Amino acid sequence: MQSVKNDILLNCIGDIIAKNPDNNEHTILIVDDEINNIQLLKRTFRGKYKILTATNGLEGLQTLKDNIEEVSLIVSDHKMPVMEGTKFLEEANIIAPDVVKILLTGFSDIDIITDAVNKCNLFQYVLKPFNPEELQEAVRNGIDKFDLASSKSLILKDLKELFYKTIKSIASALDAKDPYTHGHSMRVTLYSIILAKELNVPEGELEQIETAGLLHDIGKIAIPQAILCKPGKLTDDEFAIMKSHPINSEKLIASIKKLHEISPGVKHHHERWDGKGYPDRLEGENIPYSARIIAIADTYDAMTSTRSYRKALEHDIAISEIDRCKGGQFDPVMAQKFVEIQDIIKAAKDNPEEYYLKYSTLYKEMRLAE
Ligand SMILES: [Fe+2]
Repeated sequence: MQSVKNDILLNCIGDIIAKNPDNNEHTILIVDDEINNIQLLKRTFRGKYKILTATNGLEGLQTLKDNIEEVSLIVSDHKMPVMEGTKFLEEANIIAPDVVKILLTGFSDIDIITDAVNKCNLFQYVLKPFNPEELQEAVRNGIDKFDLASSKSLILKDLKELFYKTIKSIASALDAKDPYTHGHSMRVTLYSIILAKELNVPEGELEQIETAGLLHDIGKIAIPQAILCKPGKLTDDEFAIMKSHPINSEKLIASIKKLHEISPGVKHHHERWDGKGYPDRLEGENIPYSARIIAIADTYDAMTSTRSYRKALEHDIAISEIDRCKGGQFDPVMAQKFVEIQDIIKAAKDNPEEYYLKYSTLYKEMRLAE
């Protein structure tokens, strides 16, 4: 008798889905302990959706894990041996939070349903015996929700890619303005993120340091080429103009909300630990953390690059200079760490593109979103 009822029930589901014009790109996982139900559902959904089945919650979780990239929606019965449907969906939600979950339940117990909605991120429950129209709508809406979430993540991916490539392009455009500083912004950023990682800066702040590194000298766009590329020593007036670039950098990024958080690192990258820097003569820990990191990376790259007024210094000499200036020009803890990791810095200097992709948080974020 029970089997006949189930057949009728599942024929209803079959009719509902058969009328549904949804395409078969989506995979639905059906979890039900009744073998007859499973068979009927498989026949019903053939050609419309790809169907995966499991006869209990544990098996359902394994099937979900094995097909995590494919499953769009789960329809689970509630009353099952081994693991109740709500428990299964709760576990499934941890594995696949974006997969849409529908619970079939014979209970109208509001506590069970409320619990399921909260714990399982339940999209909808359908009471048994269910109204065919209601289940049809639940499946259709569930698939729509999944598609919407997917398109959101595609938009997010595009935005991350756009952000990464735009920031990198701006930095490259700046570096191209002066042939002697070619690749400077990228290398300063690279040394900054290596140092930041070695200082155990939290993952969330690495992206800010990276962005600040790429844009730290953006204000140099407003500096005349004659000053920027002058082969000899700058006059006092020229140096005053040159010293305006951190404030120009800050002004340029001020209009972009997403970049507000990197302002301190950009504006203060020429401050000195001993308070003799610019633009605000900040001292010690009053200098923003990211600015102290960029200051060391910036100086190292300036020393190890050929400039219009002198040849590049050897790595060892630049490191000795960083060491000598700890507690004077530089944060002593950070400078010490930079000296300690000099082998990594040297390797990064010799192969900046490879190391950049290895260390870049922005690049990693962009790839993760793919
Ligand atoms: Fe600078």
